[in-house]
Amino acid sequence: MTRHLITSAIPYINGIKHLGNLVGSQLPADLYARYQRARGNEVMFLCATDEHGTPAELAAAKAGKPVAEYCEEMHAVQAEIARGFRLSFDHFGRSSSPQNHRLTQHFAGRLADAGLIREVSEKQVYSNADGRFLPDRYIEGTCPNCAYDKARGDQCENCTKQLDPTDLIEPRSAISGSTDLEVRETKHLYLKQSGMRDELNAWIDSKTDWPILTTSIARKWLNDGDGLQDRGITRDLDWGIPVKKGDEDWPGMEGKVFYVWFDAPIEYIACAGEWAEAHGLDDAAWQRWWRTDMGADDVRYTQFMGKDNVPFHTLSFPATILGSGEPWKLVDYIKSFNYLNYDGGQFSTSQGRGVFMDQALAILPADYWRWWLLSHAPESSDAEFTWENFQASVNKDLADVLGNFVSRVTKFCRSKFGEAVPEGGTWGAREEALIGHLTEQLKAYEGHMEAIEVRKAAASLRAIWVAGNEYLQDAAPWSTFKTDPDQAAAQIRLALNLIRFYAVISRPFIPDAAAQLLQAMQTGDDRWPNDLTETLGLLAPGHAFTVPDVTFRKITDEEREAWQVEFSGTRG
Ligand code: 2FM
Ligand code: ZN
Repeated sequence: MTRHLITSAIPYINGIKHLGNLVGSQLPADLYARYQRARGNEVMFLCATDEHGTPAELAAAKAGKPVAEYCEEMHAVQAEIARGFRLSFDHFGRSSSPQNHRLTQHFAGRLADAGLIREVSEKQVYSNADGRFLPDRYIEGTCPNCAYDKARGDQCENCTKQLDPTDLIEPRSAISGSTDLEVRETKHLYLKQSGMRDELNAWIDSKTDWPILTTSIARKWLNDGDGLQDRGITRDLDWGIPVKKGDEDWPGMEGKVFYVWFDAPIEYIACAGEWAEAHGLDDAAWQRWWRTDMGADDVRYTQFMGKDNVPFHTLSFPATILGSGEPWKLVDYIKSFNYLNYDGGQFSTSQGRGVFMDQALAILPADYWRWWLLSHAPESSDAEFTWENFQASVNKDLADVLGNFVSRVTKFCRSKFGEAVPEGGTWGAREEALIGHLTEQLKAYEGHMEAIEVRKAAASLRAIWVAGNEYLQDAAPWSTFKTDPDQAAAQIRLALNLIRFYAVISRPFIPDAAAQLLQAMQTGDDRWPNDLTETLGLLAPGHAFTVPDVTFRKITDEEREAWQVEFSGTRG
């Protein structure tokens, strides 16, 4: 038995995520977690909401709520939607947890003790009316390049020119509109990660089995241009984790918080602490996943994320961990994803473009989305969601291939033999050939799942479903029955066992359908198949079953057209 620690990139708190976000981290992480559990391994699958930084503050302000209250509400909303998609987190934590406060301050203290933090004086815009420093996007003014009057301190949205807040003409606070601004000195902490380049390079070089997408991004940031720069890890914001050195105050850092990208990955660790607390367990219970001196040596740690998150996970977070000098577990494998586009453009949270997770669940159950998203995961390149493609996949793979197989087999059996596995007949060459073929396909499927080749795994699974259909078509028990009912009974017995087999191996992709099929087959035996001859005989003659309701329905052209219209604009 292996122990798998699995984390998904933690989604920002500022709103409901779209399907592109889902397929880039949480969903493939869930697939892998479910698969490893099904193989009998011990799994700790963690995710959380990423609650700090300006986006959280701005979203709360827009909602007219105090940030803490906004975050608490949005966490509950995201947790509920995650349940709707059947994301099987062992814990869905919060980066604002007390555990993360303590741990983030602890790491900062260790890094300071190791001489890896330096203090830097910077000039920043201070708003007298608001009584605070303004981060770049809190400052608005007229663009010096195109005269657009709502340019932000970091960039002009109109002409895309990158700006410095001091470039803006007639700058004002985006919070209060006040123009009573001045430039003040402020001190910040920088993590001296540039000094760790060799160590990080050697570490990345040792990861020869990582996806090229992951290592190419890491290498680019390590070695290109100015390479790995020291990173500011503090901000002048109200909301966040107060800057402290462990338990102690940090002179000169009063009123400042850690930068969101410093504390977010630390939440992966803190989340395990939240899990332990939620289950009334002691520190050793979570530390055995995270500390190599507490048993995490034999843990395999896999991270899932979109490609934009790779630099933080290959450079900054490892720098934090290595720099601490403590025996924390480092990631073993980083699975990263390209982007999913929406119907000729991009999914966009800020513009409300595409299909959002709550909207998706409102029109079809989770399994339909899970199947399409995973079987089209943007692995080797960006992928695109179109309603035509979604309709075609659902109708073909789920309704015609899998659903139809289940329906034909169970209904035929009920009408000719009754609602129990029929007795009689024996397997012949056709059945032996099928078992040989399925054995090979299953090996391929397992190989792709182990390697987290999501699309290939989906294709293998589909091939296994297709093989059952072809067998049924070829054996044609409805014809056999007329001349040799015993032989037809043997064929249907095999087919009923295939339904159970399908339920077990398809569960990581389509957990609800799998549960429905196991229930229809009236079995709680969900053991992963080993020897297929044995597996396909588990439901013995006389074992009762029921005909399930429609497993997957088809999407009609009218529905598809209506959804195309409904989701063509932007979300209000
Ligand atoms: O890109 C994002 O959605 C970030 N909230 C991911 C953070 S992942 C990790 F560092 F915690
Ligand atoms: Zn401009």
